[in-house]
Amino acid sequence: MRACVNSGSRVKMSTRMTHHDLLIVGAGLAGMRAAIAALTHQPQLDVALLSKVHPVRSHSVAAQGGINAALGENDSWEAHAFDTTKGGQYLGDQDAIEAMCREAPADILDLERMGVIFSRDERGRIAQRPFGGAGFPRTCYAADRTGHALLHAMYEQLLKRQIRVYEEWYVTSLIVDDGACRGVVAWDLLHGGLHAIGAKAVIVATGGSGRVFLTSTNAVINTGDGMALAYRAGAPLEDMEFVQFHPTTLKDTGILITEGARGEGGYLLNTLGERFMKNYAPEQMELATRSAVSLAIGQEIAEGRGVDGCVLLDLRHLKRQRILERLPQIRELAIEFAGVDPIESPIPVRPGAHYQMGGVQTNQWAETELPGLYAAGECACVSVHGANRLGGNSLLETIVFGRRAGVRAAESVRGAASRLPSGGTLELEQARIAMLMANKGSERPWQVRDELGKVLSLHLGIFRTQKSMTEAGDKVRELKARATRVVLQDRGNVFNTDLIQALELQALLDVAETIVAGALAREESRGAHYRSDFPRRDDANWLRHTLASRTPDGPSLRYQRVTVTRFPPK
Ligand code: FUM
Repeated sequence: MRACVNSGSRVKMSTRMTHHDLLIVGAGLAGMRAAIAALTHQPQLDVALLSKVHPVRSHSVAAQGGINAALGENDSWEAHAFDTTKGGQYLGDQDAIEAMCREAPADILDLERMGVIFSRDERGRIAQRPFGGAGFPRTCYAADRTGHALLHAMYEQLLKRQIRVYEEWYVTSLIVDDGACRGVVAWDLLHGGLHAIGAKAVIVATGGSGRVFLTSTNAVINTGDGMALAYRAGAPLEDMEFVQFHPTTLKDTGILITEGARGEGGYLLNTLGERFMKNYAPEQMELATRSAVSLAIGQEIAEGRGVDGCVLLDLRHLKRQRILERLPQIRELAIEFAGVDPIESPIPVRPGAHYQMGGVQTNQWAETELPGLYAAGECACVSVHGANRLGGNSLLETIVFGRRAGVRAAESVRGAASRLPSGGTLELEQARIAMLMANKGSERPWQVRDELGKVLSLHLGIFRTQKSMTEAGDKVRELKARATRVVLQDRGNVFNTDLIQALELQALLDVAETIVAGALAREESRGAHYRSDFPRRDDANWLRHTLASRTPDGPSLRYQRVTVTRFPPK
């Protein structure tokens, strides 16, 4: 570890710069897949990962239900592409969707070769379960712990290749020099202190931003850091108004109860004991798309047919053995966190923030508008999910586009000369952190974060209106100002989580302002963006992507056409 210096009241920072060919920020599935692909493609490269948590604590570990690929004899990648396009209400770019669905089967077999233990069917093949919006059972799974199985296998591959990981480091800024991204400034959590790390290319793979809402299936680490970093560095964020609400999250805590439970045959019931989905999607019932099921649950609750602010997910008819074999984790979660054993009683569930369909705008090869910067996984918007992601396509996106990001970034840095960025960013970040550390007053970071979560949950949930979103926008602007004045109780260097939470709060607010701006401007309903004041989809005016760029006065919006190849919007 390099020496850090303290100078008077200034924040501790390193005087020397480390350099890598490729630096990947985020060590979940997309980040690790990118690192492995880069090294497989260019074995001599110096590749490093940096993550604010240990890699196996990344949020990918929480993915439950599975990963999609057209492996079945009667299935096809074209059918997978059609379901994905239709489920996303035609807002996804079809060239990117085609790439993902075409490459999915080979990627699944690669994962199996890497050591992922998928559940098997009675003939010993990789088992596949039905998921919402899919015309074929194409979700491969490892019981209801698929993310866990994938993440651990990927980490073993990382160890095998002895890839350098900066564990528990937090990136505060990208370094942009001469119009290109040339590294990062990062805080070393364990020892304290800011460091500049140069790189010929940087991939951000930091996951989602679910914690912008009060209750979410997301881990507390999902604070939109990579999106905020790219946005501040000048790369636009795309389609941020499209936030997916998962239909079944556990009462009170918002813990994910996998769609796999409905895939295995679970029912949704209202207080009258009715399978109410027959009134909303009589053919697909509980396996309609997530936005359709969430809206139906929201309407049942709003019209007084809920049960204590929830509806009920009934698995009892699946019987003990199937629940223990296919859904052991959600049984444990329901027992531990809701006091309900699904073998004997239905689980109280309600929709909760789950996934950000938008993110850093990229092309199919993970390239952003900023040379030298790539993005992959949930923090990116390729865009393959459009207005509503199908369950099982997010793990797939991390694997396909993580791999593509690694390959393309490796190609771009091969033979490129190392160029140490000129100074400036490190000092700016040092000043920003010094200001935070010096703040006096009484408001703590968590208080602002709680207010943000409440206002977004209330006003940008499954139902939205101009009035509610305008209120939210005003509040977000107020909170942004307050966030720069929050007071830290810990002013030390070693494992200062107080400081990290204050920095994360600023990222959450940057993300929040783009969600509100995009949603207010989009005067239609499409997928996860449902406006009670504009209840119809409007292809004539709104079949287009929103791009949000940062300005001192808030996000500036522009629009971009959607790529349509083989499936004309219907
Ligand atoms: O319901 C689930 O298991 C979640 C899957 C997903 O978001 O892809």
